[in-house]
Amino acid sequence: MHASNADSGLDGVVAGRTALSTVSQAGVGLTYRGYCIEELAAHTTFEEVAHLLLYGELPTREELIAFVERLEASRSLPLRLRAVLEQLPASTHPMDVLRTGCSALGCCEPEQSFADQHAVAERLLVAFPSMLMYWNRFQQSGQRIETQTEEPSLAGHFLQLLHGTRPEEFQRRALDVSLILYAEHEFNASTFSARVTASTLSDLYSAITSAIGTLRGPLHGGANEAAMSLIESFADPEAAERGLLERLARKEKVMGFGHRVYKGRDPRSDVIQVWAKQLCQTPDDQSRLAVAERIESVMQREKHLFPNLDFYSAIAYSALRIPTAMFTPLFVFARTAGWSAHVFEQRSDNRLIRPIAEYIGPELRPVVR
Ligand code: COA
Repeated sequence: MHASNADSGLDGVVAGRTALSTVSQAGVGLTYRGYCIEELAAHTTFEEVAHLLLYGELPTREELIAFVERLEASRSLPLRLRAVLEQLPASTHPMDVLRTGCSALGCCEPEQSFADQHAVAERLLVAFPSMLMYWNRFQQSGQRIETQTEEPSLAGHFLQLLHGTRPEEFQRRALDVSLILYAEHEFNASTFSARVTASTLSDLYSAITSAIGTLRGPLHGGANEAAMSLIESFADPEAAERGLLERLARKEKVMGFGHRVYKGRDPRSDVIQVWAKQLCQTPDDQSRLAVAERIESVMQREKHLFPNLDFYSAIAYSALRIPTAMFTPLFVFARTAGWSAHVFEQRSDNRLIRPIAEYIGPELRPVVR
């Protein structure tokens, strides 16, 4: 009999090997293919990081130009996918739009063989913002938009589609950095589900659809939306302090805090917090920031818990005037790079992922008729 991890949520279990990232290894911290996250966030763009994850290296100047040109050329959606998006109810959560859109794109443009995997990953990277904004505009005003802009970066492209005007450079870069921080994170739940799907030799669309469904929950990617709802539920820092203490007394979890692997701090939170503070210019933004900072200090004082990436991302996104229901979809845009790279890695040295369970059901019994 093997040792049982049945109650542990696989905490601390090494479930495979990866050359893509380290999260919290002693003395290393968060790295993507050997580069530390702070350096990537300071000196690279999301497109460079996506190239690093998908192709193994940061691109040369020529490689980057070619990569960005390919991405820009892939932004249009097939007519049949547009028709599917138009049929979705206005009440659909944007994560469900992406989950459905991913599956539908897989019907329109199937991955014919694993030799297509890089092309499919590139297509998905830019198709997701297009799907979300096409559906959003159609539901809001019945308008069928062309999902093209003059913005070469994914961050700028999304902001322009959302607001209808080209973003300020500072706003574009803030979102770009956030996408870098969200791009990859080792064997988190959604990546693991993508790898399980890939391990059956299924197609990339199926693996990414599994991952989106897994990311959606509030214990994973959905935490940034839940954190925003929490922050907005308090009028000021004093109300936040009172509300938090009541919540903790009821033993409720506070979304955007804690982490399975990080124990003292989330290095991504330190980076996004700086950007979030700089983005908060209006009195409303500053009031939300003050509430968030009080929540952080109460969580530290009462529970010794630290904010994870999702908490201050919520503040940054709200200052960028991004609707709350689009927060987790932004996580999808970024993590598509990491998920795809994990699928490639799984395929390159595959063995079916199939653990076993500890049986806790009834004793053997006869069927009585
Ligand atoms: N708010 C309040 N208490 C929390 C907490 C939070 N966000 N995160 C952990 N805790 C507490 C638990 O209540 C538990 O306390 P107890 O031992 O007194 O019962 C203890 O810390 C361990 O929590 P547990 O849920 O078992 O840890 P985990 O390793 O399974 O949890 C998370 C990791 C991320 C699921 C958890 O921290 C969480 O739910 N956070 C909120 C959701 C979130 O922000 N997710 C995004 C992660 S990037």
